[in-house]
Amino acid sequence: MNQRNVFPEGKNIYQPHLMEIINIIPETGDTKTFHIQFVEASLHETFSFLSGQFAEYSVFGEGEATFCISSSPTRMDHLEFSVKRVGRVTSALHQLNQGDTIGFRGPYGNHFPLDRLKGKNLLFIGGGIGLAPLRSLIHNVLDNRSDYQDITILYGARSPQDLCFKYDLEAWSRNPLVRMITTVDVGEKDWKGKVGLVPMVLEEIRPSADGAVAVTCGPPIMIRYTLKSLEKLAFTPSQVWTTLEMKMKCGLGKCGRCNVGPIYVCKDGPVFSFEEIRNFISDEF
Ligand SMILES: Cc1cc2nc3c(=O)[nH]c(=O)nc-3n(C[C@H](O)[C@H](O)[C@H](O)COP(=O)(O)OP(=O)(O)OC[C@H]3O[C@@H](n4cnc5c(N)ncnc54)[C@H](O)[C@@H]3O)c2cc1C
Ligand code: FES
Repeated sequence: MNQRNVFPEGKNIYQPHLMEIINIIPETGDTKTFHIQFVEASLHETFSFLSGQFAEYSVFGEGEATFCISSSPTRMDHLEFSVKRVGRVTSALHQLNQGDTIGFRGPYGNHFPLDRLKGKNLLFIGGGIGLAPLRSLIHNVLDNRSDYQDITILYGARSPQDLCFKYDLEAWSRNPLVRMITTVDVGEKDWKGKVGLVPMVLEEIRPSADGAVAVTCGPPIMIRYTLKSLEKLAFTPSQVWTTLEMKMKCGLGKCGRCNVGPIYVCKDGPVFSFEEIRNFISDEF
């Protein structure tokens, strides 16, 4: 499947399409997942994207913000994106209701390298809202399960209340073909998962690097220590993939807002192997 931006040639590349919010799932105290559908039904048929890509979403009168598409291209009934409330646009999105309309332009950016994951043992490592882009990839992989070997998912959040996508975590825990490990920084009386930071738990479960690829998304501090832990576990930089989330404006490689070293995250990323970025991300991580 190829990425297909639905804007026809010659049209204003910044003009968003209208999307109707068809469902809103509260994930945590500050995070919601929105299910959306194109208002113009024909776009539903022509739109496609790949796991890892993002879009620009607008709340009219408030502004535009960048979010990954957190649903999988293998499940195209509708699109999903998940929003942590941190500022102006994210707060405005959190005020919206089912039936409201937002703007959407995309998909933009590159995607997770599914061809390099095929036939490998996969290790997904996520933290907080960082599970959103990984979730698209995990659903994609699980919908084509026979293409991959062992699947391990390690996901962490500050507390049990901060775990996003609890319905997915439960389904993956029940799936006999997935090894699911959930951890929180601070446990509670009824908490049955692990207690400890993601990199600590990673070193405890000691996944083998042989024939494996690791994909990690989360807050910069988690990524920084997870990369160190993966190195200790003998993962080479070319076996590790991550996403960068620099602040963006155009999403199209035109405004220069998102560059890190020589790369534009919106155009060259947001998905990178650690090998590609290790020499110039030290300030960001
Ligand atoms: C490729 C990509 C994918 C993303 N996917 C998601 C996602 O799936 N879910 C999600 O909740 N967020 C995601 N983000 C982050 C999201 O874009 C920002 O949180 C959002 O733009 C904030 O908008 P705002 O108007 O509410 O915040 P503002 O009012 O603009 O800012 C509020 C605060 O957040 C800081 N901030 C804003 N954007 C960023 C950023 N990109 N990185 C670090 N700090 C930032 C500002 O500096 C400020 O301190 C993604 C970002 C990128 C670049
Ligand atoms: S966001 Fe404009 S160049 Fe990347």
